[in-house]
Amino acid sequence: MFNKLMGVFSNDLAIDLGTANTLVYAKNKGIVCNEPSVVVMRQDNKKVVAVGAEAKRMLGKTPANIITIRPMKDGVIADFDAAGEMLKYFIKKAHNRKSFVSPRVIIGVPSKITLVEQRAVKEAAEQSGAREVYLIEETMAAAVGVGLPINEPYGNMIVDIGGGTTDVAVISMDGIVYSKAVKVGGDKMDEKIIVHVKENYNFMIGDRTAEQIKIEIGSAYDTGEEERIIDVNGRDLISGIPRTVTIREGEIRETLKEIVATIISSIKQALENTPPELAADIVDYGIVLAGGGALLRGIDSVIRQETKLPVVVPEDPLTAVVMGVGKMLEDFELLKRVAVNH
Ligand SMILES: Nc1ncnc2c1ncn2[C@@H]1O[C@H](COP(=O)(O)OP(=O)(O)OP(=O)(O)O)[C@@H](O)[C@H]1O
Ligand SMILES: [Mg+2]
Repeated sequence: MFNKLMGVFSNDLAIDLGTANTLVYAKNKGIVCNEPSVVVMRQDNKKVVAVGAEAKRMLGKTPANIITIRPMKDGVIADFDAAGEMLKYFIKKAHNRKSFVSPRVIIGVPSKITLVEQRAVKEAAEQSGAREVYLIEETMAAAVGVGLPINEPYGNMIVDIGGGTTDVAVISMDGIVYSKAVKVGGDKMDEKIIVHVKENYNFMIGDRTAEQIKIEIGSAYDTGEEERIIDVNGRDLISGIPRTVTIREGEIRETLKEIVATIISSIKQALENTPPELAADIVDYGIVLAGGGALLRGIDSVIRQETKLPVVVPEDPLTAVVMGVGKMLEDFELLKRVAVNH
């Protein structure tokens, strides 16, 4: 079956189907689509109103007959139909809306998903026009994407902090030696921020504002630099009237502490469960971060402090997975070695 993949088709795609963002990489072209995993549909006839960036702008602003769906939850498909619609749209977009071509597709999936969940991803992609679907573990893809020497007898540790989950994996000789996923990531951080603002200011903010607070002033480590602040709009829960409040970096750091601690304890657990020779390699080469959560200010510092190991943040952690899946699309031998099911 792999031999067919070597064919001359140039419309093949690599996809990172994430909880927060979906990225598509086209053979010989690179990343052609990078949009939020959001679909807006009419409730009555399930007609798609918008997908991706346009749909995310509508988040929390739609009337009752129009619903906003995030088809992925905790790294797996939560709404099969919406996931299919979303894939269909992105695949079309990746092909520049040219005449319909059915591509071969490689999709990154979390390492610990069940066979049923794997089948759902495959079927959604097939219904969206994919001819053949291959699945790759996202941590493996991220490791390839950031250029780790995964085929060598070295222990590589990768920590992918995504929207829905944080995946920790130790990879050596093209295989996953240890992996663990915890259901914390960017979404949980946003949820905590909403609760914090509600409880401390009697003030209601939406998901997008919470994410904006996290991205602009969120941090995991006190650098001692001047504290950043942000003014946000929302609704006063006592008067019911919209107003603005000022949020400080320190209180957000405190709010995110528990989530950061969960991430660190899953890293420590991975280190404890890694065979000693591979753990020794991690001491030399360090822990490599990926995913949007790797951009949380100071997350590398706090992991370094807690593990006493070197921590590396790649230049663009948000594209690590799709770049790795893309490399597999271009390198048939590599794909053959690491694909989940073939
Ligand atoms: N500068 C930043 N600081 C903190 N968090 C950020 C930053 N930029 C993006 N994020 C967060 O990263 C998350 C998205 O990361 P990513 O695209 O890696 O997730 P995903 O792959 O869609 O999710 P998953 O891998 O869990 O399925 C979002 O929660 C987003 O708010
Ligand atoms: Mg991801």
